[in-house]
Parts: sequence; structure tokens; C-alpha cells
Amino acid sequence: MTALEVVVERLRHVYGTEEPVVALDDLTFHLPAGSTTAVMGPSGSGKSTLTTILAGLQRPTAGRVLIGDADLATMSEVDLLRLRARALAVTVQRPDRNLLGYGTVQDNVRFAQRGAARAERRDLPAPLEVLEEVGIAHLAGQRADALSGGERQRLALAVGLATAPGVLLADEPTSQLDDRNRDALVDLLCTLAGRVTVIVVTHDDRLGDRFDRRIVLRDGRATG
Ligand SMILES: Nc1ncnc2c1ncn2[C@@H]1O[C@H](COP(=O)(O)OP(=O)(O)O)[C@@H](O)[C@H]1O
Ligand SMILES: [Mg+2]
Repeated sequence: MTALEVVVERLRHVYGTEEPVVALDDLTFHLPAGSTTAVMGPSGSGKSTLTTILAGLQRPTAGRVLIGDADLATMSEVDLLRLRARALAVTVQRPDRNLLGYGTVQDNVRFAQRGAARAERRDLPAPLEVLEEVGIAHLAGQRADALSGGERQRLALAVGLATAPGVLLADEPTSQLDDRNRDALVDLLCTLAGRVTVIVVTHDDRLGDRFDRRIVLRDGRATG
């Protein structure tokens, strides 16, 4: 699949009804296909809420969210599931939670491809090719739980890329890495630009500097 444009218009998300919490308030932005974006902001500013909405895991209270030409706010459950299998890759904050520890590195990539295969995707990359891309092809036969932190983050990215997504969403992919591994992972994310639309939640300014753009949230609004 090719990279997809992401359009967010007047997005609003409110949790709860008795004591409502406005997590996102009138958020508007436009990310060209293949661009790289860092989503930043203090704790509680709405980053995770935005990520789960873009991932199709939660419906917004109001507003439009387009991934390519699909509107996440209004599409049916079935279409949303299909879009998630076809177009979106999400890596959560702790790399272990993206992985099957007892499986090999290659098993993890294959497992990630099963859902897409059911959706009759024929353009899936070979597992070794994906591992090559993230620099861990030499570890293909190792158990995932034997990997170092940097290797696990790479494998989590490989699992995301295994389905050749149009959009890659990653929550704090560099947070548990030392400087050397962090720089290597940022380099890797930058090489994905053009082929996939990359959206990364991060506290790391250096990552924000390397990307095309940043969205800085404060109290659910974009500040700059
Ligand atoms: N499931 C939830 N129920 C109620 N309030 C929530 C829930 N998730 C997040 N919030 C609130 O929404 C706001 C934004 O949270 P969140 O999106 O997690 O921000 P961040 O990821 O930037 O820390 C915060 O005030 C938080 O307390
Ligand atoms: Mg969060």
C-alpha cells in the first residue's frame, strides 16, 4: 500500500458524561501522505487520545478524521476493522506488548501478517525483507524475549511494517533506549518517510527536530 494522507478537522473528544473531561478540543491539522510528524505535549494533553482515535480504536465525540478517503468518525465497524487491517499500524509504548515473547523474531512478523492475509492482501512483504529493513534480519531465529531493548523496539516497528501500512502510529518508540539506539531508531523512522505516513508520540525534542512537522498539544488543543 502507498502512504495515506491524514486529515483531522475540528476534532473533539470528551470522556464521561457526569463529570466530562475534554481530552481534545477543536483540533485541526493536515498531514500529507508520506510525511513525518511528532506529536508532543505534557502528560494529560491528549496525545494518547489522539493516537487511539487515529488508530481507529476509539470514536471521536465530534469532528472529522480522514485516513486516505475513509472517515473514521462515521464508517461502519466492519469497514473500520478492514481499514485497520489494511492501512494502519500501531506500536504501543512498551515494546513487549507488541510482541510474542516466546516466538522467534520471524514468527512475530508472520503473526502480524495473518490478519492482513485474511483481508486478501497480496502486497505483503516477505518477513525477512521487513527484518532487513529495520536492521535485525540476523536475529530472525532468536526468541523475541531474548532481544535487547533496542532490538525489541526495532522488532515492534517491523511488526507494524509487516502489513505494509499507509500510516504508522508509534507511541514513544524511543523512550526506553540509550542515546545510540535512540539515534539509530530515529534514523530508521526518517527512512520510512515517503513510503508511509509516520506519526510518533514523543517527548524527545530531537525527534521532533528531525521530522517534517510537530503537533504540540496542551489541554487538548494544538499550540504550535
Ligand atoms: N478513559 C478515560 N476516561 C476519562 N478520562 C480520560 C481517559 N483517558 C484519558 N482521560 C483524560 O483525558 C485527558 C487527556 O489524556 P491523554 O489522552 O491520556 O493524554 P496524554 O497521552 O497526553 O497524557 C486527561 O485529562 C486524562 O485524564
Ligand atoms: Mg499518553
